[in-house]
Amino acid sequence: MYIVLLGPPGAGKGTQAQRIAAATGLLHISTGDMFREHVKNNTELGQLANQYMSRGELVPDEVTIKMLLERISRDDAKAGAMFDGFPRNVAQARALDEALAARGARVDRALLISVPDEELVARLSGRWICRNCGRLYHERNDPPAAPGRCDACGGELYQRDDDRPEVVRSRLEKQKPPADLIEHYRSAGVLREINGLQSLEAVTHDLLEAIK
Ligand code: AP5
Repeated sequence: MYIVLLGPPGAGKGTQAQRIAAATGLLHISTGDMFREHVKNNTELGQLANQYMSRGELVPDEVTIKMLLERISRDDAKAGAMFDGFPRNVAQARALDEALAARGARVDRALLISVPDEELVARLSGRWICRNCGRLYHERNDPPAAPGRCDACGGELYQRDDDRPEVVRSRLEKQKPPADLIEHYRSAGVLREINGLQSLEAVTHDLLEAIK
């Protein structure tokens, strides 16, 4: 099964992808995490991507699509995957459709998580991430047991550079799922809309129902 998670920055795509992966065993592929890994390792791709990420803009399609297609060509993605943060536009969606069609597959569900802007700002400014295992926390909504330490592995928690208020504003202006992308999946009959303004558990429940 191939699933696409859609939603504005801070809607809960990464958090829910981790929970769904744990519940179903589906492979979680996050283009944001892949770019951040490149930035951390200071690769050529990371240096390029960081120019866009630090301004709250999308990395160019040519680069993003190539990276994603290479990732799904690996054996562990042959049986299915859940895409978090990809596609962001119709060009990316078409590239994914073509790659999946070539292996006799398709996007089975596109899950759109909706959350109002005021809540997105609060979620992004309170987000903390484990430097070691990547588990996501929120200082108010989903805090770790010990401040600054990951419950799962004891790793150090950090805040993303692009969660600074001025970058968040740009991300919210430029990175909401565009109407034609939503329509792409609606017309294919695979779109399901999920209310993201609920507890973490309730959102997970609705998402799991939508992929049954
Ligand atoms: P990416 O990492 O994908 O960032 P994003 O789309 O902006 O999404 P976020 O990771 O910020 O939010 P999320 O929806 O995953 O929310 P989360 O679960 O963390 O991309 C980063 C950058 O990479 C982009 O800006 C772009 O430059 C580049 N990029 C990536 N993909 C690209 C592509 N395809 N094309 C081009 N460029 C690309 O939750 C947020 C917080 O809220 C957490 O603290 C969490 O604990 C809390 N929370 C979650 N759910 C709830 C809830 N139900 N109730 C209360 N709190 C909650």
